Amino acid sequence: MQGKRVLLIVGGGISAYKNLELVRRLKERGVSVRTILTKGGAEFVTPLSLSVLSEGKVFTDLFDLKDEAEIGHIRLSREAELIVVAPTTADLLAKMAHGLADDLATAVLLATDKRVLVAPAMNVRMWQHVATRRNVARLREDGIAFVGPNEGEMACGEYGPGRMAEPGEIIDAIATLLGARAVPLAGRRVLITSGPTQEPIDPVRYIANRSSGKQGHALARAAAALGAGVTLVSGPVAIADPEGVHVVKVETAHEMLAAVLDALPADIAICAAAVADWRAADEAIHKLKKQNQGGETILKLAQNPDILATVAGLGANRPRLVIGFAAETENLIANATAKHRAKGADWMVANDVWPGTGAMGGDHTQVHLVTPAGVEDWPPMSKYEMAARLLARASEALQTLRSAAE
Ligand code: CTP
Repeated sequence: MQGKRVLLIVGGGISAYKNLELVRRLKERGVSVRTILTKGGAEFVTPLSLSVLSEGKVFTDLFDLKDEAEIGHIRLSREAELIVVAPTTADLLAKMAHGLADDLATAVLLATDKRVLVAPAMNVRMWQHVATRRNVARLREDGIAFVGPNEGEMACGEYGPGRMAEPGEIIDAIATLLGARAVPLAGRRVLITSGPTQEPIDPVRYIANRSSGKQGHALARAAAALGAGVTLVSGPVAIADPEGVHVVKVETAHEMLAAVLDALPADIAICAAAVADWRAADEAIHKLKKQNQGGETILKLAQNPDILATVAGLGANRPRLVIGFAAETENLIANATAKHRAKGADWMVANDVWPGTGAMGGDHTQVHLVTPAGVEDWPPMSKYEMAARLLARASEALQTLRSAAE
């Protein structure tokens, strides 16, 4: 990304502070960053902090005649190779969708002939409002690129999609749009399982678990960002489908296994789903009635197929790299090492899902990578960063395997 020119428009929202990290990381990569701070954005970050990090002038609505004479908003909009709007508020999305230009940021957006990347951030109800959905659809048709929003707890205390994408994700999206992204997995196929499975007991009840699908979906996004053709086989989750990924939705472990086998061949398979280990041995056709059961009910369970072990045990159709996850609440490394052997996976990612860690359902994780060479302790990081790091390692391993085979 060395020498690339990005114009960053900082919208109003609590996540505006993440731009300080975004600017710092872009500068580290040799990107020249100019910034426009909107009135709303200036409520959350100061022109001085952005100016120090970007090593340049920050343009605001106080853009005076001298600035206009020196650079002009048309030139400002044209000189950049890419315009990034982060966070993009519902108001900014609406203005962009309708071509309004009542301040410097929107005037620049209307005057530009360059690609625009938006990173929306807003309250979940605003994101889901039909007016915002209409604006988003219009902007996508107009060729505006989107990164996020992600799902999670919001500053206002509500939960759902509406959080701005993390700086790492925005940088990946910028690199892709600038054509500066290494695509080491181009031409490779990656198969990922994600989310829980739901095993019906009767027509209204099921057995499931607390998996949110965040880790599996982050893996799919990271694999797609590296250029892979990705199939994501997902159990029922409340989060959005990743962009640029083929998503197959399933409910039960049996359906997940069938979808996985159907998606082969693949170069890499990553089983991140929390597959229910058991299903009801006999699914009731009608809703079970408690008055027929006495005070106590015995539910007979049958074991589900192990998808990871099945894929790792395939002959000719086995992906060259099979990676599993070990979710443990105790004896993390010992249990993960035992699962690594028992399931025949090449690598196992061990993560502590003890409720106090916040990993289950949260945005961050701390893992250990178990490979035949030993156990690596990875520092705490976001699920997306973990995914990006794992996929980068996997693509290196594929190269090594290929060179060894040649
Ligand atoms: N897995 C799978 N199919 C199953 C069970 C697990 O593919 N029926 C995969 C998971 O996707 C994960 C790995 O196996 O990659 C380990 O899952 P985990 O739930 O940690 O272990 P289990 O095998 O279910 O063992 P246990 O519940 O006894 O810890």
